Amino acid sequence: MRVQLDNAGGLRHLVTLDGLGRDTLTAILDRAEGYRRLPGQPAYEGRELAGVTVANLFFEPSTRTRASFDLAARRLGAHTLNLDVNSSSRVKGETMLDTIYTLEAMNVDVFVIRDSEPGMPEFLIDHVAPHVSVVSAGEAHLSHPTQGLLDALTIRIHKRRFAGLKVAIVGDIKHSRVARSTAQALRTLGTADLRVVAPPALLPEEHELPGTQRFTRIEDGIAGADVVMMLRIQKERMAKSADLDDAAYYREYGLDRQRLAHAAPDVLVMHPGPMNRGVEIASEVADGPHSVIREQVNNGVAVRMAVLASIAATLTRHRRPL
Ligand code: NCD
Repeated sequence: MRVQLDNAGGLRHLVTLDGLGRDTLTAILDRAEGYRRLPGQPAYEGRELAGVTVANLFFEPSTRTRASFDLAARRLGAHTLNLDVNSSSRVKGETMLDTIYTLEAMNVDVFVIRDSEPGMPEFLIDHVAPHVSVVSAGEAHLSHPTQGLLDALTIRIHKRRFAGLKVAIVGDIKHSRVARSTAQALRTLGTADLRVVAPPALLPEEHELPGTQRFTRIEDGIAGADVVMMLRIQKERMAKSADLDDAAYYREYGLDRQRLAHAAPDVLVMHPGPMNRGVEIASEVADGPHSVIREQVNNGVAVRMAVLASIAATLTRHRRPL
């Protein structure tokens, strides 16, 4: 993947985890741990993004990712601008690039983009001005780098290591950018035992998720797992979803307490959200003692602060002098 780092090794853009090594990911996670505050503690407030304007352009629905990018930017002193598809000119036929150039002219420095079109973030990297950065908040079914990082941070906080862990990702792997980016982050950080579990029709081609073992029976896939991450069925990415029966899916793949007993005794249960209770996960598990689902949300803000702060530090080297 082309230049996400500048010549000095600083983070310029973040649109994929491809090509980012263990040191780069670890530095982001270290920084994020410093920004992390538990609910009830006062949130970290800083000036790392003072004078920086961050535009959130979400052309697909989002609750937590968008809210956490916005809070992350503002808690570090940035100005933020939130545009959604209904109010943007894209529905009037303006190209994405024209929207970007319009906002660049208003001194927007960082574009956070979620879009269903594969390749859009990379395309924008090739066209933005030298002092402007692009951060992906989800690219089609392909990648969701900050989700991969926040999942890695959540696991690191609890397990303090990546090597030797068994991690199972269960659900609609085929349509999931979360599965792809989280598996990639964990592989880069040293987890070798990565499993994906799905009905045969929802497993991606082997080359799409290199280095993972594939399972179709959940009990086999989560056996002895230290981490079980559940995903929802992404009906919006399927041509015909009407055939899918939620009750039948729950019977075969839903994570309830009984099934969870196949995993390690101190298993972490994760879910990127949004959750469908009673479809891929039982409430007793989502709200149970092994669940770190709300911690993932908390860590999401810290990771996005770390990414934006790293980018802002790099941008200062590329800005125009007054
Ligand atoms: C995910 C996404 O948008 O890819 N959600 C998220 O960012 N937390 C997963 C999903 O939509 O199911």
